[in-house]
Amino acid sequence: MIDKKQLNSNIPKHVAIIMDGNGRWAKKKGLFRAVGHENGSKAVREVVENCAEIGVKYLTLYAFSTENWNRPKLEVDTLMKLLVNALKKEIKTLQNNNIKLNAIGNLQSLPKKARTELLQVIEKTKTNSHMTLTLALSYGSREELIKTIQEISIKVKNDVISPHLINESVINEHLYTKNLPDVDLLIRTSGEQRISNFLLWQIAYAELYFTEILWPDFKKEDLFEAIFNYQKRERRFGKTSEQLS
Ligand code: FPP
Repeated sequence: MIDKKQLNSNIPKHVAIIMDGNGRWAKKKGLFRAVGHENGSKAVREVVENCAEIGVKYLTLYAFSTENWNRPKLEVDTLMKLLVNALKKEIKTLQNNNIKLNAIGNLQSLPKKARTELLQVIEKTKTNSHMTLTLALSYGSREELIKTIQEISIKVKNDVISPHLINESVINEHLYTKNLPDVDLLIRTSGEQRISNFLLWQIAYAELYFTEILWPDFKKEDLFEAIFNYQKRERRFGKTSEQLS
């Protein structure tokens, strides 16, 4: 088990997490899927607090994908209720830890209650500066890229930008993540090793970390273990080892 004292100062600036396995956690225990999501929601707090404590500046959580709308209505309703409850309850945790809340995704498609609560917490925490917690809600990376291409195309058509000036910065500025740096470490729980339409552009140089642990069981020691593993890797960004040293 890894303790935070074993970590060095190379803390990833931006950690993104695909919180997977709530359903399997519940099934293993003979419980309803909703109970898995409830416990998944509890696991969020420990990870948020500990990321803030060790100095992660940006934490992005995949809470609800565009594809998740296809789940049974009861499950979608449960997830939306959990979101509203967590926002109401955890605003204190955000304020106490000086954490700013942010959201990415098609927020218009969220139920009114969830959107209103979300926007209120974003507003109340907007001057917090220790860490930015981004919830990906009704988020899909392909949808984000389509939106980006549409917006840039309109600017080209209206002569606001010429096509040969379109570069990485221009694209970054049109993504939902425009105020966030690239992801350094992407964690996925539950043993699945895929990206599932999450931050496709933004993880171009991220280190990927997969663990068998189901999300409701993911504790601070598991977070430290993921970061410990990250710290052992050499990030070359296309260069050679010799160039780096
Ligand atoms: C994946 O488990 C998880 C989700 C679809 C949603 C994640 C939501 C939470 C952790 C709770 C609410 C979030 C916040 C921010 C309060 P799964 O249902 O796909 O699990 P399975 O693959 O085992 O079925």
